[in-house]
Amino acid sequence: MSDNLTLPAQQGSAGTSTEPLLKVEGLTKHFPIYGGFPIKRKVGAVQAVDGVDLTVGVGESVGLVGESGCGKSTTGRLITRLLEPTDGKITYAGQDITHASRRQLAPVRSEIQMIFQDPYSSLNPRQTVGSIIKSPMEVNGIEPEGGQEKKVRELLELVGLNPEHYNRFPHEFSGGQRQRIGVARALALQPKLIVADEPVSALDVSIQAQVVNLLKKVQDELGIAFLFIAHDLAVVRHFSQRVAVMYLGKVVEVGDRESIYNRPRHPYTHALLSAVPEVDIDGTGPNRERIRLSGDVPSPILPPSGCRFRTRCWKAQDKCATDEPPLVQISGNKAGHLTACHFPEDPTTEARDEDVVMDPALLALEDAAESDTVPTKD
Ligand SMILES: Nc1ncnc2c1ncn2[C@@H]1O[C@H](COP(=O)(O)OP(=O)(O)OP(=O)(O)O)[C@@H](O)[C@H]1O
Ligand code: SF4
Ligand SMILES: [Mg+2]
Repeated sequence: MSDNLTLPAQQGSAGTSTEPLLKVEGLTKHFPIYGGFPIKRKVGAVQAVDGVDLTVGVGESVGLVGESGCGKSTTGRLITRLLEPTDGKITYAGQDITHASRRQLAPVRSEIQMIFQDPYSSLNPRQTVGSIIKSPMEVNGIEPEGGQEKKVRELLELVGLNPEHYNRFPHEFSGGQRQRIGVARALALQPKLIVADEPVSALDVSIQAQVVNLLKKVQDELGIAFLFIAHDLAVVRHFSQRVAVMYLGKVVEVGDRESIYNRPRHPYTHALLSAVPEVDIDGTGPNRERIRLSGDVPSPILPPSGCRFRTRCWKAQDKCATDEPPLVQISGNKAGHLTACHFPEDPTTEARDEDVVMDPALLALEDAAESDTVPTKD
């Protein structure tokens, strides 16, 4: 990767520094289920996302974490307006874009970009790398100074690829390199917000470190805000200033990185942290309690009443089945650390840091993220 980034740092279009770039309120997506014969009618709905509140500040990186099927991708697709919300409100740079038409969306389309999980299927195998990265500029009729090809070559260099590979096809690149192509494509329109949906989970752990590091550099140096979706708290830890934990369509806990990793209050966050593999640094054996969640995530077609986590929660009581816990700042939480639980965990558990000790492979990720050098060969 070149040391001198060629894209200008983003100023952010939110009016003031206190106004978030993205604000999501009560965001809901219910996918209807149809049944019956001969006349099909709606018989239910998959409550994929159900009342999510979330903000992302200018240049801020927010992690969105949760198990498979909890609604992370759907949330990302709603924000990028690839899906139409059932309810709720999406405000981008002070503008309500919840139900904006294609034409109304045009001015902000280029500012919000998405990076997808699978670097194999998200690139057209019949297009050269040059035309893949160029296509967002063509679609939006953007002619950068020096021309589109020059910009593509700059972007290739920016993401640590050889600009001379402009005419190569995706199959000629490794998984990590293909994800770099995806990053270059997302950067082509100088976005202000990137929704990265599990951008490294399809890659080997050693390659994950390089791509996370690249994204971090992009965020730091170009000031681009990120919503970084992952199922693994370990990956998000290196990248996000704030973390939101999602369970069965709802955000159950959100807060700054330090609060979430060191003082998690929601039992589900605690369980997710304890699931991160622990390395026995001092040879005395694992020294923290491992929480094993029993059972699978319940169906989003018929989620549990009250608190949706109650069927797997070891602290559940009667109230949890009848009253849905609101996402609020509970006693002992830092400002901005919100938790949705009637009977939260103790905030002062000793040596909570032990909970997030990485296994050796993930430690490599941490080292790479902390180092200034960005490996360019995958
Ligand atoms: N188009 C759709 N029609 C019906 N149900 C859908 C649709 N898209 C997603 N779902 C359902 O919505 C729920 C949330 O899916 P989503 O893909 O958002 O979860 P996720 O958290 O991204 O999971 P993963 O970690 O596996 O990617 C799942 O139960 C999924 O089956
Ligand atoms: S509200 Fe009850 S069931 Fe839900 S997480 Fe808290 S203790 Fe567990
Ligand atoms: Mg997903």
